[in-house]
Amino acid sequence: MRYLTIALTKGRLALKTLNLLEQIGISCDEMKDKNTRKLIFTNEELGIRFFLAKANDVPTYVEYGAADIGISGKDIIMEEGRKLYEVIDLGMGRCKMCVCGPETARERLKHHELIRVATKYPNIAKDYFYNKKHQTVEIIKLNGSIELAPLVGLSEVIVDIVETGSTLRENGLTVLEEICDLSARVIVNQVSMKRENERINRLIRDLKQLLTENN
Ligand code: PRP
Repeated sequence: MRYLTIALTKGRLALKTLNLLEQIGISCDEMKDKNTRKLIFTNEELGIRFFLAKANDVPTYVEYGAADIGISGKDIIMEEGRKLYEVIDLGMGRCKMCVCGPETARERLKHHELIRVATKYPNIAKDYFYNKKHQTVEIIKLNGSIELAPLVGLSEVIVDIVETGSTLRENGLTVLEEICDLSARVIVNQVSMKRENERINRLIRDLKQLLTENN
């Protein structure tokens, strides 16, 4: 039997996903060992392989079919814009994509002034400002600690994830506009969906059932 390959996002999301998968009978104890440097883990009995990838790379592996299935944040799925199917909202890691900044930026944003927007998500920011709001802005790509940008005068606002809101609060920033809700999603390669229809559909059905039972 051909292995069904599942790409997980390194870190907290991987552990949470493994817990869910375990509840539907798909286990991989090898992977829980925090000290291992191994990259691929196999459950021979089930014919399933797992691997861990950097968050932004998971949709890439899935689009090219190197993974049949992936678990990825909606933020990454939107930012990467890959060709794939998004099949389940796992409801984990709920948060929002927002435009944030100091209260003083609210007016400038409202009046469509040419402002600078710092973000780790340039495609999401572009889509939001250009396509949805028809507003011209200058987008500056950063790689982390985005809240720093308006504090030191790199940009007027940021586009970033807000979970508890404490990073914003502690830095005197606030949510100015909400872009969309985010959470972890199951994504599937478009060819695998046909070729491995039976196995993938069973997995989707079991996961959906588990999610309704847990709610
Ligand atoms: C994320 C995000 C915010 C923060 C939001 O950053 O970019 O900075 O979490 O969470 P909160 O609303 O609960 O405060 P992350 O910690 O992933 O690191 P980063 O700064 O490197 O992006």
